[in-house]
Amino acid sequence: MVTTMNDDLFVPDVIRDPYTYFARLREEDPIHWNGKHGTWIVTRYDDVLWLVRHPELFSNRVPQREQYPPIDESDLDLQQIVNRFFFDFLVYQDPPKHTEMRKQVHAYLTPKAMERLRPSIQSIIEDLLDKAEAKGRMDLQQDFAMALPLLVIAHLMGLPNQDRKFIQEQLAPKLLYMSRGEGNRMQMLCQGIRELRAYFAPIVAERVANPGEDLLSVLARGEKSGAYTRDQVVANAILLLVAGYNTTGDLICNGTLAFLRHPEQWEAFKRDPTQASRLAIEECLRYDSPQKTVTRMATDDIQMRDGKVIRKLDRVRWVIASANRDPEQFPEPNAFDIKRNPNAHLSFGAGIHYCVGATLTRVESAEAFKALAVRFPNLRLEEEQPKYQPSVSFRTINGMPVAWK
Ligand code: HEM
Repeated sequence: MVTTMNDDLFVPDVIRDPYTYFARLREEDPIHWNGKHGTWIVTRYDDVLWLVRHPELFSNRVPQREQYPPIDESDLDLQQIVNRFFFDFLVYQDPPKHTEMRKQVHAYLTPKAMERLRPSIQSIIEDLLDKAEAKGRMDLQQDFAMALPLLVIAHLMGLPNQDRKFIQEQLAPKLLYMSRGEGNRMQMLCQGIRELRAYFAPIVAERVANPGEDLLSVLARGEKSGAYTRDQVVANAILLLVAGYNTTGDLICNGTLAFLRHPEQWEAFKRDPTQASRLAIEECLRYDSPQKTVTRMATDDIQMRDGKVIRKLDRVRWVIASANRDPEQFPEPNAFDIKRNPNAHLSFGAGIHYCVGATLTRVESAEAFKALAVRFPNLRLEEEQPKYQPSVSFRTINGMPVAWK
């Protein structure tokens, strides 16, 4: 049993470097009860894989109960609103509802369809980098990494061009408060939900009346077939928008950071980016995964290793950031090696909730890294030590100024 572990997952050291903290847990107490956050923390690769492959034992319908740090008492009713809203997301369903809702979206984001999208993605990238070049400098996160996936998902949804800046700057960031620690985070979340619902409701109504070939129309058709209610169509439009932009943006930032901190890997990548990108993307995903942890709830008493028993209704957090660095699975797990193969990382999850956006992400990030390598071979960081958002779930850098001259 670990006795000296600080259970506060928001302390600056753990936010800055989750790997050292979780490696210690993985070695000393791989099924750890964290009393402060009121959750089990599972850190070994084989345990995580077992857990995600047993959805009948670990439900995704995890109620937002007491949280750490606590939510302001005056905001507890807001938490109910947030709970109800999240429970319409397809990711928070269990089978059979989950299967029915997932099918629609999954059938749309196929590898073939994503391949057809590649030229549009390339042209969005060229556009963004032309603008950066004209300015002579950029914040890689705001001007490129976050802008790209948002433009792509908005393109897939057929959202009006002029709305994209507004969504990126005003609406989407508020939803990311879901995994942060501020006492008043429910207020930000509720405001974000209200605004995003108000934005999407009329667009969804229009798509239900006149469905086209876009991703929103897929959800709208789901309403007609009975798989989704109207509230669920709106909620899942928001889920796809937010899930699709923040994580991919993080991948481009965290991957760029890894490249620039390992110049020999960056040189190797630049020699032949087209050839190198397939394996390099997987290593960027493994080495510094955009999503660090995911939560489940036990549906029964479950006997785990070391005599630990997870009790029915207990919360369980599985740690991608630790499983991906487990030496039992990855030789030299702390090395960044863009030729690593095999590389069965868990950054997109596994099992029935495996990320529906995985192929899209791979195409976007491959094109993004290739374009950076070709256009800005002398790319360098303007700030050596990035600052991270105080989040237990996401590995998000707060701004990334770069130069290339
Ligand atoms: C680097 C990029 C991404 C990462 C790291 C990532 C990570 C993940 C992870 C870990 C899960 C599993 C969650 C669980 O088991 O509870 C997941 C599911 C999901 N992701 Fe992603 N994701 C990324 C990109 C995207 C994109 C681009 C989209 C949308 C186009 C997307 C939409 C979804 C959806 C809808 C689910 C739920 C699937 C289900 O429950 O069946 N993600 N993602």
